[in-house]
Amino acid sequence: MTSPPPREPTKLSEVPLVIETPRLVMRPLELGDADALFPFASDPELSKNMSWDPHRDRSETVGFLQRMAASYAANSGIGWAITHEGAVIGVISVEGIRWDFRAWRMDKAEIGYWLGRPHWGKGLMSEAAFAVLRWSFETLGLHKVTIGCVEGNDASRAIIEKLGFRFLAIFEEDFWRFGRWWDHRRYELTAGEYADSTRTMKFSRPRPA
Ligand SMILES: CC(C)(COP(=O)(O)OP(=O)(O)OC[C@H]1O[C@@H](n2cnc3c(N)ncnc32)[C@H](O)[C@@H]1OP(=O)(O)O)[C@@H](O)C(=O)NCCC(=O)NCCS
Repeated sequence: MTSPPPREPTKLSEVPLVIETPRLVMRPLELGDADALFPFASDPELSKNMSWDPHRDRSETVGFLQRMAASYAANSGIGWAITHEGAVIGVISVEGIRWDFRAWRMDKAEIGYWLGRPHWGKGLMSEAAFAVLRWSFETLGLHKVTIGCVEGNDASRAIIEKLGFRFLAIFEEDFWRFGRWWDHRRYELTAGEYADSTRTMKFSRPRPA
């Protein structure tokens, strides 16, 4: 699809931000989510495939929530609390929203996500990520969404590939952690590819709610 970008970048403050799926409600993060999120964010097993270390105390979780609020205020990112059966169980975000670069319109951003360990393996992040991908294209009006996972994070890789992202490359030895260099798998999806895959359902993926 080659449709041009909207004349003005979309303002996060002017679009619907609550996303509902059959089992989840995603709403913008609040500072008060620190109590629910700290037990998950302090779990080393959760953060080992993320770019951050486990939070040592609640103030680090508050700091994370403050950074997300600052991105929202700058119109460059939004983070949602993923709620399931009334409880906050994780986070999903659209960050690094880049509307332009000098003379270029870009309209792209990166999806990231994490879920508390007790909630893994129930298809919940697949459900959340598909809904946020759909929101990114259909509500925010992005032209491209990017995503990546550390080599070996097979659960995240399964989600990304199920959503229909196009594999780009393995960024070899992309970062150093735990005493070794790690490879990074990178993917992207354009608005046209998203529309095609949704229309033809050529990928095995959850149907839009
Ligand atoms: C990665 C993470 C978000 C997955 O969430 P989840 O709700 O458990 O994921 P889902 O159940 O929706 O889907 C996981 C998929 O991976 C598959 N999977 C899970 N573990 C796997 C493994 N070890 N090897 C291969 N596939 C695996 C599942 O079968 C499922 O695929 P399917 O729907 O085709 O059966 C969650 O484990 C997490 O938060 N991990 C820590 C943080 C993290 O790694 N975030 C992503 C950074 S890129």
